[in-house]
Amino acid sequence: MGLSEPYLVELKGITKSFPGVVANDSVDLSVAKGEIHALLGENGAGKSTLMNILYGLYEADAGIIYVRGRKVSISSPKDAIALGIGMVHQEFMLIPALTVIENVALGMHSTKEPFTDLDTVGKKLRELAKVYNFKIRLDAKIADLGVGEQQRVEILKALYRGAEVLILDEPTAVLTPQETRELFATLRLLVAEGKSVVFISHKLNEVMEISHRITVLRSGKVMGTVLAKDTSKEELARMMVGRSVAFEVERGTAKTGEAVLEVKDLVVKDAWGLNVVNGATFEVRAGEILGVAGVDGNGQEELVEAIAGMRRVSEGAVRIEGRDIAGLSPRQVAGMGVAHIPASRHKTGLILDMTVAENLILQSQYRSPFSRRGNLDFKVIRETARNLMKEFDIRAPGEDTKVRLLSGGNQQKVILARELARKPKVLLAVHPTRGLDVGATEYIRRKIVEARDSGCAVLLVSTELDEILNLSDRIAVMYEGQIMGIVDARYAEIEKLGLMMAGSLRMAG
Ligand SMILES: Nc1ncnc2c1ncn2[C@@H]1O[C@H](COP(=O)(O)OP(=O)(O)O)[C@@H](O)[C@H]1O
Ligand SMILES: [Mg+2]
Repeated sequence: MGLSEPYLVELKGITKSFPGVVANDSVDLSVAKGEIHALLGENGAGKSTLMNILYGLYEADAGIIYVRGRKVSISSPKDAIALGIGMVHQEFMLIPALTVIENVALGMHSTKEPFTDLDTVGKKLRELAKVYNFKIRLDAKIADLGVGEQQRVEILKALYRGAEVLILDEPTAVLTPQETRELFATLRLLVAEGKSVVFISHKLNEVMEISHRITVLRSGKVMGTVLAKDTSKEELARMMVGRSVAFEVERGTAKTGEAVLEVKDLVVKDAWGLNVVNGATFEVRAGEILGVAGVDGNGQEELVEAIAGMRRVSEGAVRIEGRDIAGLSPRQVAGMGVAHIPASRHKTGLILDMTVAENLILQSQYRSPFSRRGNLDFKVIRETARNLMKEFDIRAPGEDTKVRLLSGGNQQKVILARELARKPKVLLAVHPTRGLDVGATEYIRRKIVEARDSGCAVLLVSTELDEILNLSDRIAVMYEGQIMGIVDARYAEIEKLGLMMAGSLRMAG
């Protein structure tokens, strides 16, 4: 940009508090015309808040916004759109029963008021889609589109409304690697045309690949703005978490033993009677990690819940060391040596209003040494808790602290400590690091590898392909309730995994 040209968007001293937390603390951010500017930070760093302020969804407590050099006041998305600011949220805001064209036309003024002129909208959308190389079926209903396609609709909608600055809030979280690549190609086209993009992410690889400049937020504060070409993943990680981080967990080759967990032709139904797991077959051997990759919502969580005894097995079999466990309760399954890090820490992993010590012995409280002739032995319980807190680096004021008051990372360590302390034969780990900071992530991954090295059969479900590739010995890909293929992680090709995640490749094996 020229010297005399102001930034397209400039935020100065933006501050926003929610009860108990300063989400944005005097944040400065500038976006130039034609740049992709990444907003990088861990969960809870304040990224969405900042952009929701720019888009008029939240009102800042303090700070000034300039657009094209002029001070503006943005008090609703309508104001933002009028200034050429568009935003695609993490949750899409489309109406499933309507077509793409109808969704875009919604809320727009038309020349033939009060009826929206769908033909005109359709014509303009087709042109836009062509310019930006978008693969979208404009006449299809939203309900019939995949997630990637819905995201393209949201982007197209923003462009249709004249967005010059496009804000994308964690857009790649729901995409396969191929879809991510397509999105990046689109973003490059957009900025080549002179538009600007604010790309929100917590993934370092992506941010390094796609952006020109990167602003790092930590705990609501700007840690710095750097040029992507002048920085490194290591530097960005340090800015994000405030210390150095190891990206890859060290792991030796697997010493695998017998198949401990066997799943055969498993069918699990959802509340509507549809098959969410649709004939899954695989085994996990002692001493190996089988990673289950897939876009969120393809049956991975239901698969694990069925193994853990939390969901009914409709057809097929689940065996632990050869014994069929269909119909057993979660406690009975746990009693057979199955540990479980559930997808939802808060709903099924912990009892938030109980103490760290109490949470650490859940599922074991009725057994020796914690219980004797029906009486809980609090001395033993507290001592065990203190040891586990030390061993698993659980940071809490004490074992009597309510789990609700712990950070997400420490809550997850409580679950991990409880589950691994039982020396399980099988570990079911579902999104074990989701929402955690890089430090806690590194720690939990290391513990999972340790469990594998001590002979545990680990089933790891994650939507983060990096995590799957780093930890797994073999990788299964799940799509619409089916296992599309199982590959040796040493020879896994991201390309092929992506195709399987999208349902367009099936591999024998
Ligand atoms: N509507 C809200 N009400 C209360 N607290 C909120 C709200 N939105 C965000 N927060 C809090 O503000 C902080 C920043 O959140 P957010 O901007 O969503 O972070 P990020 O997008 O970087 O993950 C977090 O501590 C979050 O819990
Ligand atoms: Mg966010």
